[in-house]
Amino acid sequence: MTRIVPPLRLGVNVDHVATLRNARGGVLPDPVRAAQLACAAGADGITAHLREDRRHISDADMRRLKDVLLVPLNFEMAATDEMVALAIDLAPHACCLVPERREERTTEGGLDVLGGGIDLARKVERLGAAGIRVSLFIAPDEDQIARAADIGAAVVELHTGAWCEFVAAGETARAGAEFARLANAARQGAALGLEIHAGHGLDCATAGIIAALEPVRELNIGHFLIGEAIFAGLEGAIRQMRHAMAQGRAAIGTGTAA
Ligand code: PXP
Repeated sequence: MTRIVPPLRLGVNVDHVATLRNARGGVLPDPVRAAQLACAAGADGITAHLREDRRHISDADMRRLKDVLLVPLNFEMAATDEMVALAIDLAPHACCLVPERREERTTEGGLDVLGGGIDLARKVERLGAAGIRVSLFIAPDEDQIARAADIGAAVVELHTGAWCEFVAAGETARAGAEFARLANAARQGAALGLEIHAGHGLDCATAGIIAALEPVRELNIGHFLIGEAIFAGLEGAIRQMRHAMAQGRAAIGTGTAA
């Protein structure tokens, strides 16, 4: 009997396009144009992170993305009152709550859902009540996942950054242990009724491996795609990624999946 494997969506993060624009000031390159091109090349959704210091994506970028995109917009943000109010006003398809520190170069570590207490639970509830699908970006940790389900998140996005770093450094044993944590977390989250996403640090090789985890339904990828676009064009980079994801997905049920 043929097994039906659920599809795996690709969300493209366009923050780096705004970083490049802001390096010069002015309006080029335009992250909204990049988002439209990404969609034409096969992205299923677009992610943009409106940071508290507005270092890349601006409020106006978020508004334009919401206005022009025909695919779901994922508003990545810190769990602050300011961001919750902005998100409710913008009404994107989804919000992904992440930890945010001003001194970091990119999102480091997952959200502390346990430590977020009732305050975080209320923010998740407010966003959900506004019809926004709420995702929590977390490390593959059992207690954090259980708490994410308890407070009513619809989605957890598993932080793949540590695993990707171990892979890149050739630290095979640590990479294997971290991948096992990701695989367990994906199973645990899905069993609790959460939709499972994954992201951070993924390239074609690591995305292909993660794609073979059946509970994972969406990958969110920025740095590799925007960097590779310099060499292959954004369309080319996204095509490569879709190919790697499709190959990983096709391994499910054949006994060759990780
Ligand atoms: N998912 C989340 C929640 C992130 O914070 C980021 C980085 O902005 C990504 C995915 C994408 O990570 P990368 O740019 O390393 O592909």
